Amino acid sequence: MNSFNEQLAVLQTRVEEWLPQYFPSIPDDEGGLVVEAARYSLLGGGKRIRPVLLLATATMLQLPETEAMPFACALEMIHTYSLIHDDLPSMDDDDLRRGRPTCHVKFGEAVAILAGDALLNRAYEVMLSAIRLERPGTIRAAGYIAKAAGSSGMIGGQILDLSAAGDVLTLNQLRVLHGKKTAALLKAAVIAAALLAQQPPPVLDALQCYADGIGLAFQIQDDILDATADRLTLGKSAGKDHRDGKPTYVSLLGLYEARRQLALTVEQAKDALQPLLEGGLAIEFLHDLADYLQIRTS
Ligand code: IPE
Ligand code: IPE
Ligand code: MG
Ligand code: MG
Ligand code: MG
Repeated sequence: MNSFNEQLAVLQTRVEEWLPQYFPSIPDDEGGLVVEAARYSLLGGGKRIRPVLLLATATMLQLPETEAMPFACALEMIHTYSLIHDDLPSMDDDDLRRGRPTCHVKFGEAVAILAGDALLNRAYEVMLSAIRLERPGTIRAAGYIAKAAGSSGMIGGQILDLSAAGDVLTLNQLRVLHGKKTAALLKAAVIAAALLAQQPPPVLDALQCYADGIGLAFQIQDDILDATADRLTLGKSAGKDHRDGKPTYVSLLGLYEARRQLALTVEQAKDALQPLLEGGLAIEFLHDLADYLQIRTS
């Protein structure tokens, strides 16, 4: 069996191969500029964690890659749109993303807004083209992703995040915020694969618990990295949460306790996989991914 890092690289490569095919260039006189801007952000780096999670869960559940890939790439398009908009001057006002100037710095604000819109719309187009009426899981997976990206999920979290700048939240309020702005899409990756593979309730329950854990862990580590890492390593700006008065695990609990909460959350996520292991599923990659999220440096 390959090591975790090798498997991660294989899945990341598969995503890199497919993404440009799902979002091809078009001529300038057909609106090519917005596609160029969208492709600049979509194809310019990124860890691809959400599509990797979807593909890895699909593999564990023996769903063919061809059935999972449209949903995996759609999720990455939605995530990339959220980053373009998150970086806009009216939101986090960031100039660096994935090691390069942000979309609005490179193309201007109006084009960046439209590039985000284009990515979101293309994501739905790709998912709709993968719907098979004889396989209800395809409809459920698309619906789950749509809800996770919307106002009760990622967008809801973004508005909570913006509104909370300067406030001191309770830990529970912060958990809700992180759960929406970041964990919702990561959870959708895992659950969409399970819905596509038509899994029974006990498997869905265990995966939901796992996904809630890694989703929260992901944002705790994002908070920690913002406070501790440098711009070059991150490929995005550092120290901005503090400057903007954003409530984070670090601002609320301090670095030591944030790290302790991260470790606890990762352990809970891994524990949630236990029933799946007992049911004979190969959980190793998902298990190791939870550890990776805790030690990632970018
Ligand atoms: C950054 O996401 C934004 C958050 C939700 C914390 P990632 O850390 O997955 O960013 P990329 O895709 O690797 O650039
Ligand atoms: C962004 O959270 C979450 C999104 C939905 C894009 P952050 O604002 O903390 O993400 P970074 O640190 O800019 O990547
Ligand atoms: Mg933000
Ligand atoms: Mg941001
Ligand atoms: Mg951040």
